[in-house]
Amino acid sequence: MDITICVGSSCHLKGSRDIISIFERLVEKYNLKDKVELKGSFCMGECTNAGVCVCLGEERFKVIPSEAAEFFEKEVLPRVS
Ligand code: FES
Repeated sequence: MDITICVGSSCHLKGSRDIISIFERLVEKYNLKDKVELKGSFCMGECTNAGVCVCLGEERFKVIPSEAAEFFEKEVLPRVS
């Protein structure tokens, strides 16, 4: 599954780098390297929303860095296990 994290300027300011590193750590921890691909994307047109735009496949979510680990465990793990 592709996880696409917006790294456009607005999402960058809201912490997309932090989210990417948290996700990278969790992909490692749960041994998901062959199941999950982390990708960056330019602006996805959702800048006005709070949080960073993250897509799981075609589904869009808003994620803030302090909730990134919880998001991963709640939304990503069930989709790949
Ligand atoms: S910068 Fe992320 S949606 Fe616009």
